[in-house]
Amino acid sequence: MATVLIAVTSGFIRHANMAHQFDVLIIGSGLAGLTLALHLAAQRKVGVVTKKELLDGASNWAQGGIAAVLAGDDTTESHVRDTLVAGAGLCDEAVTRFVVERGRECVDWLIGEGVPFTRDAASDTGYHLTTEGGHSHRRVIHVDDATGHAVQVTLESKVRAHPNITLLENHNAVDLITGAKLGLPENRCLGAYVLDTAKGKVVTIAARHVVLATGGAGKVYLYTTNPDTSTGDGIAMGWRAGCRVGNMEFIQFHPTCLYHAHAKPFLISEAVRGEGGILKLPDGTRFMPAHDRRAELAPRDIVARAIDFEMKKRGIDCVYLDITHKPAEFIKQHFPNIYIHCKELGIDITREPIPVVPAEHYTCGGIVTDGRARTDVPGLYAIGETACTGLHGANRLASNSLLECLVFGMAAARDILAENAPVPPVLPEWDESRVSDADEEIVISHNWDELRRFMWDYVGIVRTNKRLERALHRIQLLQSEIHEYYANFRVSSDLLELRDLVQTAELIVRSAQLRHESRGLHCSRDYPDLLAEAKPTILAR
Ligand code: FAD
Ligand code: SIN
Repeated sequence: MATVLIAVTSGFIRHANMAHQFDVLIIGSGLAGLTLALHLAAQRKVGVVTKKELLDGASNWAQGGIAAVLAGDDTTESHVRDTLVAGAGLCDEAVTRFVVERGRECVDWLIGEGVPFTRDAASDTGYHLTTEGGHSHRRVIHVDDATGHAVQVTLESKVRAHPNITLLENHNAVDLITGAKLGLPENRCLGAYVLDTAKGKVVTIAARHVVLATGGAGKVYLYTTNPDTSTGDGIAMGWRAGCRVGNMEFIQFHPTCLYHAHAKPFLISEAVRGEGGILKLPDGTRFMPAHDRRAELAPRDIVARAIDFEMKKRGIDCVYLDITHKPAEFIKQHFPNIYIHCKELGIDITREPIPVVPAEHYTCGGIVTDGRARTDVPGLYAIGETACTGLHGANRLASNSLLECLVFGMAAARDILAENAPVPPVLPEWDESRVSDADEEIVISHNWDELRRFMWDYVGIVRTNKRLERALHRIQLLQSEIHEYYANFRVSSDLLELRDLVQTAELIVRSAQLRHESRGLHCSRDYPDLLAEAKPTILAR
């Protein structure tokens, strides 16, 4: 491979064969990725690659808001305690405190960037604060019922305008390039191979620091609130690069996803229950008080399990979320997007209850990181939903995720700016000399469907040893087919995502098999009890 040195920029020696070189390569343009990019850009050349358009990701879909201690009568202690209770004994208390203490700083930063949070003249903060399951105070700051979109659009304009940020949309990261893969003595992360989906070509990107900000893995399941981009890519790439993963068995199912035969999954925000929404059976009976004293505002794992229990016991397709007892104006003002979306589907939420079912919502586990967002691989960071920081434990508290994206986006920036990382060596180009075009795409779509259905049936809200064994067996069959496909055919986005989904599914099942108790989101019929000692599940290659 002939390499020509062509320029020195930003302390870098540029190699002609490299498509791009950055100080920092960020994979993912959700809230975690954009927060980091904007905190680095004054001092570093930053590349953000994202597999679709910038706004495609879970952050843009976030509804309820961002949890932070803002009100005069709220306290850090209270937010920490609520997080620890929801996390069922498995949160890292020091990390929880670290995150909660930075809530105000993060919200102030977003306000400074121009996010138009919903105002309330009667509140001592000047902003309307809502509440959700597991919170003992009103502390969720929001922009109506479409917080994520308002935040992402605001940050998008800053990112697109910044001269030090190069945005590569429709670029799908295939794998990380590490010292170990190149046979070097140190397993440092040096860059990534990325599929330019418009050109169908894999390019090499080198960087002094690489950050996984790829979001969660909701698409592992048939029914999910997540966007199509949530395919566990960062978790799978980090795992293949030598990172440990933690707590992957803790998959959060949101209790209230709209149930509609002809609509794509759509979340009915927990803030609807926060503002008084009541869960009912088809005959109008309220059922949550029989399951938990906190009723509709119990943490999510409890509410989702209660709905699952009632649906299975009674053989019903859904339950109902009723907020019709509130004035129509109140509902339209607080939940304008949910109101319009349901209205378009023929449901007037001011007059009739909303049919809802639980659906996969959030990946609590991920790549194990420390308080600076560092992974086990030098030079590689993980932030946002793809990371396992210790904040969420066995069950994430509502609206703590966007907060975590902000806190660790900023923490990673501080750490990256403090390190004078080495310039990566010349990296080998992607080798396509022994592959051809795929002959049968149907193999990929069939395997996608199969995986998502058996994960829903066998590794869902309630698990058994037998179901987990069945799932693992099928995962292994899929893995051998995908491996053969990957080795022989040119990569496509669908193939890459399937490969990462199956890898993530394996990590979920193996973690679930290791937990011999029921804790938080992991509920096993074979191990119904809670063990005295709470331990994280850590997998290492
Ligand atoms: P994302 O926002 O998902 O971004 C990931 C990015 O990585 C995307 O740009 C994606 O395209 C890119 N990517 C992925 N793989 C690759 C690859 N291989 N190559 C290149 N790019 C890649 N949390 C709250 O705290 N409050 C809420 O109100 C709230 N509401 C929610 C509502 C919904 C419907 C959903 C789905 C989630 C909600 N959550 C909420 C959770 C929260 O939105 C997410 O956990 C959070 O936005 C994750 O941010 P992120 O930056 O880690 O990932
Ligand atoms: C919601 O609005 O119900 C989602 C909040 C969250 O996932 O934190």
